[in-house]
Amino acid sequence: MARTRTKSPIGDWKYLKTVQAEPCEPDPGFDTSAISLAVSDATVKVVLSSYQQTHDAMLAVYVLASVGLAYAAKQLIYRWTHRIRRHGQRLRKPPGTLPFFGNGLKFLLLDRQSLFDWFSEIHNDVFGFETYEISVPTLPPGIVISDPEVLDLVMKREGKEGFGKGPFFEERSWHLFGRYGIINASGQLWKTQRKAGNKFFAGSHLQVLVDEVFPKYWERARQELDEAAETGKVVDMEELYLEFTTRVMGRVAFGMDLSNSHPFSAAFDYASDLTGLRFQNPLWKLNYYLFGHKFRSAVSIVKSFGNEIVRLAVCRREQKTDDAPTSPDLSLGEGGDLVDMLLDAVPEPHVVADSAINFLSAGRDTTANSMTWMLHLLLEQPDLMRYITSEVPPAGTVHTYSSLSTTATPRSHAIFLETLRLYPPVPFELKQTLKPDGVTLPDGTVLPHDSIVVWCPYAFGRSKKIWGDDAYDFRPDRWLEKSPLTDDGSESDVRLKVRSAAEYPVFNGGARSCLGKRMAEVMGLWVLAESLRNWEFEEVEKVGRRRSRNSLTLPMDGGLKVRVKKRIGDIGS
Ligand code: HEM
Repeated sequence: MARTRTKSPIGDWKYLKTVQAEPCEPDPGFDTSAISLAVSDATVKVVLSSYQQTHDAMLAVYVLASVGLAYAAKQLIYRWTHRIRRHGQRLRKPPGTLPFFGNGLKFLLLDRQSLFDWFSEIHNDVFGFETYEISVPTLPPGIVISDPEVLDLVMKREGKEGFGKGPFFEERSWHLFGRYGIINASGQLWKTQRKAGNKFFAGSHLQVLVDEVFPKYWERARQELDEAAETGKVVDMEELYLEFTTRVMGRVAFGMDLSNSHPFSAAFDYASDLTGLRFQNPLWKLNYYLFGHKFRSAVSIVKSFGNEIVRLAVCRREQKTDDAPTSPDLSLGEGGDLVDMLLDAVPEPHVVADSAINFLSAGRDTTANSMTWMLHLLLEQPDLMRYITSEVPPAGTVHTYSSLSTTATPRSHAIFLETLRLYPPVPFELKQTLKPDGVTLPDGTVLPHDSIVVWCPYAFGRSKKIWGDDAYDFRPDRWLEKSPLTDDGSESDVRLKVRSAAEYPVFNGGARSCLGKRMAEVMGLWVLAESLRNWEFEEVEKVGRRRSRNSLTLPMDGGLKVRVKKRIGDIGS
């Protein structure tokens, strides 16, 4: 392997690229001269070489088939000795489970949203809260859980004595997320990053986001929407929101101006989409080794970018004088960011590079998804716009951090939470049992070591047992209740209902709950108010309930294309 310095495709950076040595050396054990000596006639040579090719191909098929069979046999033996049981009985399997393939074909052939719809139907029409078994030939035994009490235990028992990401998740996500970032790290390395992240997302930083960062990066969106209102141009709100969240997250995670037109963003999107599909495709490894060239290039661009950002941050810190502490400062002048805070906590550039990419990926698409679905659902039910009129700041003012609290804007929060109930940006979750002698769930299911536990926040959100018969309807009111009477005895307004993470697992729960939940809420509500009070939107194609596209998160398939008018008067008037 030779390492050369080349011009990076991600802008003006120089970065290190690993170049493979030419693989042209003949195998020393193979004597090709014997064939040339024995055969002089050209035709015979051709026949011989084609025979050699056929022979090689057959050998390859034979070797592949043997490896495949050995692997399948190993899995079968493993499954036989690691049976999942409840009160001594095997668990039920979903209708349509096939004898050898199990549910493998469903996972392989269905698009992601159809798979989530399937989980919802199975929950509502067949199993309810009952834990059931799913099987895919090449994978360890697995179950699907739908009972909040069971999920509560899984969320609370994080770590070696219970559940963790495990090799199933790690293997599929290592290429993109790395081994050391907060998403895949465990033990002390994870704790340190979590602590740094917690500190970073404290109220004072969020206040700076609301006061300075959001208005700065919204400016371009504002111009685009004003221009579209004048010219009648169609705007894709999904793209517009993603550009905004990319810029905000670029500032937060890397301390730089990042745009969707940057090659990093395209590489990141491509690698994320393929990483998402790996969780559905039992043959992903074969795909990766045979056709993974483009994926590898995309990952290499993402990694080089992360490494370069951290290298620059380290240089900047080294140049600082001793008396200048490196405390993070989100203000828009020269200053620190999450990378700085992570470097304070873990002075290992490769860990910080992974971690910064993890934070960026955790916050960028998820927030853009939530804004897009929220606007779409409100355009479908315009009556609900009136619902938040009193919570939107009057003309000439903007939301502050305190005006975005749950007490000041309960109805806007209700719209946000209700949107994510139906369209959770992380729609599918899984863990593996790490405890060597297995774990018993509250419903009596005994899980051997390594079993896979799956839950689908998308299906939890549509559960009639949790949300009632109108679970599929968008009804923000379900999140509100009357506040108690105020001190002077007058009747007060509504307040937000609290639901447990186990009933509403949109932001996960327990030790691994989302670190950016408050930031996501504040960002979503700020953008909602800015969008609705300044413009009126009309969807270009009214195609009913929209579907999501295959990805790690839940983007809207085809984007949200709208025509825009400048708003005159109140929202909902
Ligand atoms: C609507 C938006 C968001 C949703 C629905 C969401 C949801 C989630 C979920 C479900 C997890 C658990 C993933 C897992 O471990 O399997 C998670 C973790 C995480 N989220 Fe969010 N998230 C959102 C926005 C954000 C934002 C804005 C940030 C800020 C950068 C963020 C940072 C993180 C981090 C760092 C973790 C990993 C926590 C850990 O493993 O300890 N998220 N999020």
